[in-house]
Amino acid sequence: MRPPGPSTLGFVKGLATRGFLATVGDAWREHGDVFEVRLGSRRMLFAMHPDAVKHVNVTNREGYDKLASYDTVREFLTGQGLVASTGDVWRRQRRLMAPFFTPAAVGAYADVMIRDAVELADRWDGMDGQTVEIAEEMTRVTAAIILRSMFSTEQLESIHRMKDAVETMIAFANRRLTLPPLPMWVPTPMHRRYKAARAYVHHEITTLIGERRAVPESDWPDDFLSRLMRARDPETGEPMSEELLRDESITIFFAGHETTARTMTFAWYALAANPSVAERLHEELDRELGGRTPTVEDLFRLPYTLQTVKEVLRMYPAAPFYMRDAIGADRIGDFDVEPGVGVMLSPYYTHRHPDFWEAPDTFDPDRWTPEREKARHKHAYHPFAAGPRICIGNNFSLLESHLLLAVLAQRFAPGLPEGYAPRWEMHGVLGITNGLPMVLRKR
Ligand code: HEM
Repeated sequence: MRPPGPSTLGFVKGLATRGFLATVGDAWREHGDVFEVRLGSRRMLFAMHPDAVKHVNVTNREGYDKLASYDTVREFLTGQGLVASTGDVWRRQRRLMAPFFTPAAVGAYADVMIRDAVELADRWDGMDGQTVEIAEEMTRVTAAIILRSMFSTEQLESIHRMKDAVETMIAFANRRLTLPPLPMWVPTPMHRRYKAARAYVHHEITTLIGERRAVPESDWPDDFLSRLMRARDPETGEPMSEELLRDESITIFFAGHETTARTMTFAWYALAANPSVAERLHEELDRELGGRTPTVEDLFRLPYTLQTVKEVLRMYPAAPFYMRDAIGADRIGDFDVEPGVGVMLSPYYTHRHPDFWEAPDTFDPDRWTPEREKARHKHAYHPFAAGPRICIGNNFSLLESHLLLAVLAQRFAPGLPEGYAPRWEMHGVLGITNGLPMVLRKR
């Protein structure tokens, strides 16, 4: 059976007037858990039910891959890095990088995370009562953490410029995905900005690799970059090509900070908008830490802090959609999937599915007690995707968010300006489109 779906015209009109999230949400309510829409030459199928999430990511994972849907990401953002690669390149690189991201391995980065969080808190100390753009503050700290932990770089100026360049590149790629693209040789201001940002990021990463090569291998720090540079192909014994080394480094920088920054930004909004949650979080932090800076061991005694992070990732998943291409013919539930169809899975809407979430629009960290978590459909929650292509950085990001929230919420309770109401939309990642100015308040 062909899936139902909105007309192309109605859908495109919705995108232009109401935005992506609202248009997809309307179509879901009208057509149900699986629906299809034709956009240009492509058919896209949206699947919101947890069974479909399991089917595409796990049960029939061989039937789906990152093909045409990832051309823009490959061409404009991460090249052949892990997010967008396929086939043998992906398998080899994933195997190589996986040991670096196990819970035990990422634990080694806790000290960097704590140090950067404390540095930020100390800066905020002198800014009591001032208004800051919280998204900017969070992106700066997560960019510093990923560059320091993965690449052992300490140059703050370069970290901030890299962050800005990456934002420009993501905004550009997203525009190309949503609007009819012009050829790249047309010298529009946007093309020029993108090209300059890309050249800067490539130059910085290439310089970093060059600087490392310039010192004897025995003096290399034990970080992600050294590991990539030491890796040898098990069959040929060859090191990674210069291009792949650069693509993987850029991928980890891209994927490894913007998403966590968005998560933390929404965490501050959610805490300010839900004072009873903030009160319980503060109570836990005060009781367990007694004013001390947390260590990684303390995290076991801060379950409510982690539950808050998980609830932020439920309501405001930084990656609200991700896509796969159907390789052959398939079925999702009762519906036929034709070869080449792009299948959109949606953490944002699966996480609000009323059959699996009570009062889905309420921010409630108590959903994340171990008993309630165990009782739920395993695939009703997929902020990091699932199956073999699950986010490789999920442990890193949960540890980082847990620590950042513990360090910062222990000392600060940022407040919202009078009458503020956020608007959020998917622009590659989920973001607050009208900014999030918050008043820093010491606790
Ligand atoms: C809250 C933070 C994060 C969220 C919500 C998130 C979400 C996701 C999602 C949904 C995917 C699947 C994308 C797809 O299939 O198209 C993904 C893949 C990936 N993520 Fe994350 N991510 C986060 C943090 C991180 C961090 C901290 C790193 C690295 C340090 C990272 C590195 C990657 C990589 C390399 C992939 C590709 C994995 C593969 O295909 O094998 N992510 N992430």
